[in-house]
Amino acid sequence: MPKPLQRIAVTGGAGQIAYSLLFRIAHGDMLGCDQPIALHILELPIAMAALEGVKMELEDCAFPLLKEIHIGSDPREIFRGVHYALLVGAKPRGPGMERKDLLHENGKIFIEQGQALNEAADPNAIVLVVGNPCNTNCLIAMSHAPRLNRRNFHAMTRLDQNRAAAQLALRANAPVSDISNLTIWGNHSSTQVPDFQNAKISGKPASEVIKERHWLENEFIPLVQKRGAAIINARGKSSAASAASAAIDAIKDLIAPTPPGQWFSTAVYSEGNPYGIQDDLVFSYPCRSKGNGQYEIVKGLPWDDFLKKKIRASEQELLEEKDLVSGILKGAAA
Ligand SMILES: NC(=O)c1ccc[n+]([C@@H]2O[C@H](COP(=O)([O-])OP(=O)(O)OC[C@H]3O[C@@H](n4cnc5c(N)ncnc54)[C@H](O)[C@@H]3O)[C@@H](O)[C@H]2O)c1
Repeated sequence: MPKPLQRIAVTGGAGQIAYSLLFRIAHGDMLGCDQPIALHILELPIAMAALEGVKMELEDCAFPLLKEIHIGSDPREIFRGVHYALLVGAKPRGPGMERKDLLHENGKIFIEQGQALNEAADPNAIVLVVGNPCNTNCLIAMSHAPRLNRRNFHAMTRLDQNRAAAQLALRANAPVSDISNLTIWGNHSSTQVPDFQNAKISGKPASEVIKERHWLENEFIPLVQKRGAAIINARGKSSAASAASAAIDAIKDLIAPTPPGQWFSTAVYSEGNPYGIQDDLVFSYPCRSKGNGQYEIVKGLPWDDFLKKKIRASEQELLEEKDLVSGILKGAAA
């Protein structure tokens, strides 16, 4: 018996990330090679011609698992019945645009998409926000979708985790598969905190394998925090294939049970979190999944003073972002 169809929404369908992501999903990389899928792809009206071209290419791949492709620019139509929503499309920072303006412009998008998910998506839908500033965009979408489970809203920090793992592997001259238990704490921004204190290399604390505290504090962390900017400098465009790959990893992590002793990073609603981070933020934590998107935050990881200071700074940044969009969030509560 074939499995029932899973409906996957991807926004920003004519953009760079989607150009990699859609094909990986359709190939079965995200939900598995026996899972039939329907793609529901959202774009702005101005980019619909380009999205038609993407649809033609998806058809031309003749992916056996891809049973339906829906494209459009009305989120209520596109999100109808979706089991997953990967919110990739967002407004980029334009010349002279301040952070506050960026938050507001994106706020409008994520209010509308949150409301549309609320009206149209499967009530158990898993939502992964990739479009930046992704933590606060996620908080806004979640606040406007009360029919959906808050715990199913995630902002993507998996790319940061992958970047951090790659850098530790390079420094330790170890295969990247030897790196585990890597947490990104906080915001997906330059204040994010890649945690070398609790990370492991071949099962040993990373700091016992890389015995260079100066490198870990002063080179490793900034390298990961500024990796996005380094890619833009090198490529002339922001990371796309690696972001798409991380989005696939992020969903896979959530739907499969996490192996014993392991965890992964994802930014989730902070209410009742075990680390004393303020409630009502979308904050990145180490998490474990029991499968089917049911996750828990890993408790009790130690923070030394260095880590604590950095994590508090990222929390502070998220509080400031929340403050800048407080009008939008209050609107949702009203
Ligand atoms: N969380 C992460 O780790 C991470 C990593 C890389 C990029 N990003 C972010 O992902 C986003 C997309 O990146 P990209 O390189 O694909 O950008 P892009 O500019 O190539 O594509 C974005 C697409 O989104 C569309 N779009 C804009 N507003 C939309 C809306 N309201 N509804 C539907 N579509 C809409 C645009 O028309 C465009 O085609 C950016 O915000 C980027 O900063 C996040």
